[in-house]
Parts: sequence; C-alpha cells; structure tokens
Amino acid sequence: MEGCTFSISTMDERVDDAMRSEPPVSVTPRVTPFNQRAYRDALGNFGTGVTIITATGSEGPVGMTVNSFASVSLDPALVLWSLAKSSGRFAPFAEAQNYAIHVLCADQQDLASAFARNGNAFHACDWVLNGHGVPQIEGAIARFDCTRNAVHDAGDHLIIVGQVENFVHRQSEPLIFAKGSFGGFRRND
Ligand SMILES: Cc1cc2nc3c(=O)[nH]c(=O)nc-3n(C[C@H](O)[C@H](O)[C@H](O)COP(=O)(O)O)c2cc1C
Repeated sequence: MEGCTFSISTMDERVDDAMRSEPPVSVTPRVTPFNQRAYRDALGNFGTGVTIITATGSEGPVGMTVNSFASVSLDPALVLWSLAKSSGRFAPFAEAQNYAIHVLCADQQDLASAFARNGNAFHACDWVLNGHGVPQIEGAIARFDCTRNAVHDAGDHLIIVGQVENFVHRQSEPLIFAKGSFGGFRRND
C-alpha cells in the first residue's frame, strides 16, 4: 500500500512539474510560429514606396510592379531590387542590361495593380521608348535609368544591382504600400 502511495505521489509530482514548466500566461506578444503567411504579414509592416520597373526583352517591352527597390550607394549611384525566380517575367529582367525604375505617384495605384497582374499593361499609361529601347512611363514621381551593375543569387530571388545613369523627379506625393494595401503618405508635422 505504501509502495502504491509512493508511486501515485511520484506521478503527481511529475504532473506538477510538467504544469510548472508550462509557459506562464503573459501580456507580452507570443513568438509567431515561422510560417509563410505570418512571415509575409510581419514583413508587410515595413511600409515602402511602389515602383514599376520596365525593360525590353526578346518579346518586347515588359513591366513589373516592385516594392523591393532600395538605394545602395550614393557614389557611385547604385540601387537594387529583388526579382522572384518564380516570375513568368524572370528572363527579360534577369537579362536586362538597361532598365528604368519608376517611383509611382499617389494617383498611380491602378497602374501598380495593372503591372502586378500583367507585364504588358502599357495600354494603361502613356509611355515612350528611350534611346536604349527601355519603356519610360509618364507620370512617375521619380525615374531612375539604370544599367546592369551586378546580379546576386539570393534564395528564391535574384538581387539586381543597377548603376543609375540618369534620373528625373518632380514634386508630388508618393504611392505607399504597407500591410498588403496601397495608401498615401501622411506627414506628422
Ligand atoms: C506592391 C507590390 C510589390 C511587388 N514587389 C515585387 C518585387 O519586389 N519583386 C518581385 O519579383 N515581384 C514583386 N511583386 C509581384 C509582381 O508585381 C507581379 O505581381 C508578379 O511578378 C506576378 O507574377 P508573374 O510575373 O509570374 O506574372 C510585387 C507586387 C505588388 C503588388
């Protein structure tokens, strides 16, 4: 009987120990499990501008809505963006020696959506070809004309580094992308 009591007592202690090792209820946020949806949601908290990048491939002009654009170096003037290897537009952008990065104005949300859906959405805007055969879209708040500087393999993307050969910009309000939605820029002052 004592042995039995001892045995039950030991089990209870184990249960108590297990319960004590449960994390305490806390008001601090729990660590988000690393899954694709949660990871994308976390990244979406980083608000960005929105660009359309254009080039001309073997099948003609192509464009893509891109928010991975960033400045890398001021002197020399280098910028980067990342291109998904899964994209049906991969080849023309991965191979492009010349391309243009258009920073979109607040009123160009529909154009951003159009070039996200379709690489040949040029019917939705006014555009011309520059001397290198690169489409230049009208109405952007800034445009950076680039030549290929370097391409780095990076997981499921390529990091494409461009040398800025020429740029133009104008006073207006930028289109913003955050939390999976387009919006505007609001000054705090
Ligand atoms: C706001 C926004 C930003 C995007 N940024 C990128 C990007 O940085 N790199 C990229 O490869 N695709 C980006 N995309 C996805 C492309 O615009 C496009 O939707 C995708 O390439 C479609 O697949 P497809 O090229 O196979 O047609 C972005 C889309 C949106 C709406």
